[in-house]
Amino acid sequence: MKLAVLVSGSGSNLQALIDRIEQGHLAARIVLVMSNNKDAYGLERARKHGLPCAVVEHGAFADRESFEREMTSRIQASGAELVVLAGFMRILSPVFIGAFSGKIVNIHPALLPSFPGLHAQRQQAEYGVRLGGCTVHFVDEKMDHGPILIQAAVPALPDDDEGTLGARILELEHRIYPQALQWLAQKRLRLNGRQVILSGQEKLSARGDFFVWPPLEHPF
Ligand code: GRF
Repeated sequence: MKLAVLVSGSGSNLQALIDRIEQGHLAARIVLVMSNNKDAYGLERARKHGLPCAVVEHGAFADRESFEREMTSRIQASGAELVVLAGFMRILSPVFIGAFSGKIVNIHPALLPSFPGLHAQRQQAEYGVRLGGCTVHFVDEKMDHGPILIQAAVPALPDDDEGTLGARILELEHRIYPQALQWLAQKRLRLNGRQVILSGQEKLSARGDFFVWPPLEHPF
């Protein structure tokens, strides 16, 4: 499966994908790493691994549409089959989303549909959630909204802040994003409305599988 990965910053999720591919656990090839920010550390990571990079700076375009058209044509030229948003910090309009309909995925650092939007880690810490988490979802025209491929929950502690909770969430991001992409590479996912059905796990039973935080105490 050929991937175009879009980054704006540190690119630690990109690194997790690169590592899983190099370990032979993710059957994918990154054919393009693209950023709207020429200083994104994610580009540096890509170059270290000899991956093709492109910088398309939004500020260089008259409007969102022309910026997105440029990104679209670069992605199409790369032959990518899936667009992977990995900390890409620009809102994407229907121009872009329509060009890759059903072929864009994103990772969001919260258990959607709770805490969409910016600074989700800070929102969760300030709200006082007991469980925080992260979500990999298909991208549709509403922000942080499309069908969910996988989620992970982590404990949130009373003295957590954006940084400590965010770090705990990020560790899980680095595990669930490669897993979700591997399912896509294996063509094991099918959409039924908003439900994403994973083949090979039809017999999963939810019985006995739960995560309560803080832990239940005897005799509950
Ligand atoms: C992650 O928290 C991701 O969930 C969010 O942006 C952040 C990107 O981090 N969409 P990195 O650039 O992958 O390190």
